[in-house]
Amino acid sequence: MQNTEINTPDALWRPMTQHQVMRGKDAPSRIVRAEGCFLYDDQGKKHLDGLAGLWCVNVGYGRQELADVARDQMGELCYAAPVLTTGPAVELADKLQTLMGFEKGHTYFTSSGSEANETAFKIARQFHLQTGNPRKYKIIARHRAYHGNTMATMTATGQAERKIGYDPMAAGFLHVPPPYPYRAHAKFTAEEHGEECAKFLEDTINYEGAETVAAFIMEPMISGGGVLVPPDNYLPRVREVCDKHGVLLILDEVVSGFGRTGQFFGHLHWGVKPDIITFAKGISSGYLPLAATVVRENIFEAFYGEPGTLRHFRQINTYGGHPVACAVGLKNIEIIERESLTENARTVGSYLQSKLEGLLTHPYVGDVRGRGLLLGVELVKDKESKEPMPADEANAIVQHCAKNGVMIGRNGNTIPGLCNVLIFAPPLVLQNSEADMIFDALSNALQQALN
Ligand SMILES: Cc1ncc(COP(=O)(O)O)c(C=O)c1O
Repeated sequence: MQNTEINTPDALWRPMTQHQVMRGKDAPSRIVRAEGCFLYDDQGKKHLDGLAGLWCVNVGYGRQELADVARDQMGELCYAAPVLTTGPAVELADKLQTLMGFEKGHTYFTSSGSEANETAFKIARQFHLQTGNPRKYKIIARHRAYHGNTMATMTATGQAERKIGYDPMAAGFLHVPPPYPYRAHAKFTAEEHGEECAKFLEDTINYEGAETVAAFIMEPMISGGGVLVPPDNYLPRVREVCDKHGVLLILDEVVSGFGRTGQFFGHLHWGVKPDIITFAKGISSGYLPLAATVVRENIFEAFYGEPGTLRHFRQINTYGGHPVACAVGLKNIEIIERESLTENARTVGSYLQSKLEGLLTHPYVGDVRGRGLLLGVELVKDKESKEPMPADEANAIVQHCAKNGVMIGRNGNTIPGLCNVLIFAPPLVLQNSEADMIFDALSNALQQALN
């Protein structure tokens, strides 16, 4: 199916890529096939995908039953306008409500994590307008977090390097620091650090005026921003602060949903319930674009009103609730449950994490952290001062692993001076033997870096 004669790499504008370095070089190899945790390119090389694409292919590559469901659904009903009702959309919304443990939950479907978060912001603002708090419009987000690439979600993103050149940002967004136990002040216990960060949120709400703050958005664990796991008291304290000030808690589970962290949803580690939750990626394991914004009953009810009063949610997405994507999403969830992939993420994740912790004796390995199969290794030049490893040196380690057939990630283009965290988020079907391959590639690369 491929025309390999075409050799104009610049016709395709790649994300996050400096095309100048590709000039005068052979076109990059193409990925032609994938199975389980492995990608195969047109040069015959096999790569272990330690990032599950962009942390999305939770059930692994090459699932014939997902292809079958997509083909069957496309044959039967390829598309319906989102204002119409289709079986797959209704069934998936119902399934999400059950999984969330909401007595009643309501799902608005879109096609990407950015859209799901953008939708959440709009719902939060309109909710407050329609419940007697018209001045509540500000959204508080966290430094280091990633929430998407649209103007509002980029503004919410707390990663300075991603914003350069795109000002002005959207109005009405603020940032607070997330817990970062590795770089917290040494005088704090983990619990005190969690409390300090929750207090920072509360102080910010108070300084801004609680009557102006609509929502707080956070990932349960920061993922692309460097795998930051909060102390156990942080999320419960955040929930309390939000409740006290009438601020909606939006949990961005675009990465942490659907088994990734060893719980079906990331927030289950800390037993808090969000007001709004956003999903993408693992909801369909990336087989088709699909995302969701799920809200609790009281939020949905605020949108009731007489026709013509403009109280309904006035947004439409051409591909929202796409029947083929929803059918694939349903089957994907069935696979995650049937094959206990959440449990596998937990057991193989803790196997890989303990192996990585063995690298803490290496002079460049400052910290190893994560949950399930969302793991990070923070690289430093000096363990005492925690001086971060420069981005190009950390990148050389990633490239060394890639050369040896193991793709891993790094928090590139995030925080100036702190793009030094290696990221591991393989498909949840990973076996111990494949975890060993990831570990071996990294320890070789680290050894090489010392020479
Ligand atoms: C936590 C988080 N939220 C939102 C997004 C945006 O998702 P998308 O790229 O599908 O728009 C991402 C993407 O990586 C993400 O990691």
